[in-house]
Amino acid sequence: MRRIYMDANATTPLLPEVADAMRPWLLENFGNASSIHHHGQRARAAVEHARESVARLINCRESEVVFTSGGTESDNMAVFGVVQQGGLVKPGDHIITSSIEHHAVLHAAERLRDRGLEVTFLPVSGEGTVDPDDVRRAIRPSTQLISVMMANNETGVIQPVAEIGRIAGEADIWFHTDAVQAAGKIPIDVQAIGCDLLSISGHKMHAPQGTGVLFVRRGTRIEPLFFGGAHERQRRAGTENVAGIVGLGRAAELAYNALRDGTMTRVTAMRDRLERGVLERVEDCVVNGAEAPRVPNTTNLRFENLEGEALVIALDLKGLAVSGGSACMSGATRPSHVLTAMGLVTNRARASLRFSLTKLNTEDEIDAALDIVPAAVSRLRELAPVNAGTLG
Ligand SMILES: Cc1ncc(COP(=O)(O)O)c(C=O)c1O
Repeated sequence: MRRIYMDANATTPLLPEVADAMRPWLLENFGNASSIHHHGQRARAAVEHARESVARLINCRESEVVFTSGGTESDNMAVFGVVQQGGLVKPGDHIITSSIEHHAVLHAAERLRDRGLEVTFLPVSGEGTVDPDDVRRAIRPSTQLISVMMANNETGVIQPVAEIGRIAGEADIWFHTDAVQAAGKIPIDVQAIGCDLLSISGHKMHAPQGTGVLFVRRGTRIEPLFFGGAHERQRRAGTENVAGIVGLGRAAELAYNALRDGTMTRVTAMRDRLERGVLERVEDCVVNGAEAPRVPNTTNLRFENLEGEALVIALDLKGLAVSGGSACMSGATRPSHVLTAMGLVTNRARASLRFSLTKLNTEDEIDAALDIVPAAVSRLRELAPVNAGTLG
């Protein structure tokens, strides 16, 4: 069966160019980047080259790039690292985040709340955006950190991070943004955003799983999560994952080019054609977050009177891979916290599916999806209609 992958926000395939760059570091070269001999120095040079590529992608200094094991670690390091001093929370200290963050931020904030920190979880509009005025109003004299994501993983909705960065700067509060779902999809300029910390995950941009970056602006007060060697300028102990870092660096170069050579414009056009095509062919279908600015590759479609999980399975049986809510929540029966925060009642949140493309998708695959989706929806609605009366 032909397999069509439209779940890029869960993970992306490794690009051949990325695999080519990594191969020598898996098969031929080896070396600890901290060793002073030939092998170590060669590994060090490869790591530093990757650091330059990442710095160029987000417009920062090379010394501000910290390699991590992924988005989750970067988010945890940002949130715990700024707030805790000596491993302890100062009771009464306060942070601001949003109710639609990834669990890597949300659960970290909840953990800190259990330790005595005060946390404000900001609401979002029906379109899934945080209002910068809400951020301003939530600031207290004890606020230590603001963490608001750049783009949401479920809806693709882009948050007004530059405005929030200005507010944080004026109030002299550290500002972190989770850019895991923005990197490679829209330009990122940490100077324009005005953030002190920014998270990236390799596997969302065609680099290997288990690689990531935390941008740490020079002068940002941050405590490490790990203790050990003096790696990454004492911000992240542990021998560097040289092959993974080389892959991430190459992926950053390719992402930089793709943002400039029309590739992402082509992805936007494919996403828009898919979205329009589904809306034309399927009754009672709505785009969640349609009116907000969104990253080019994502559409979150709500198929009224339908159980989303059933549709994910039906589409998979036809070879089309998409996701209901966030992949990290698969198996959980609770409706998406993001869609719920946007005001959707349980049935509507459950009736929503995320289609997320990569530059590897083709027009031909969009055509195939436009055959598969309407057929699967009408079949499911005939077989197991969800009682419209229960929809709020
Ligand atoms: C917005 C966002 N932040 C953080 C993460 C976690 O990244 P990782 O899978 O690299 O730990 C994800 C993964 O889905 C994400 O979408």
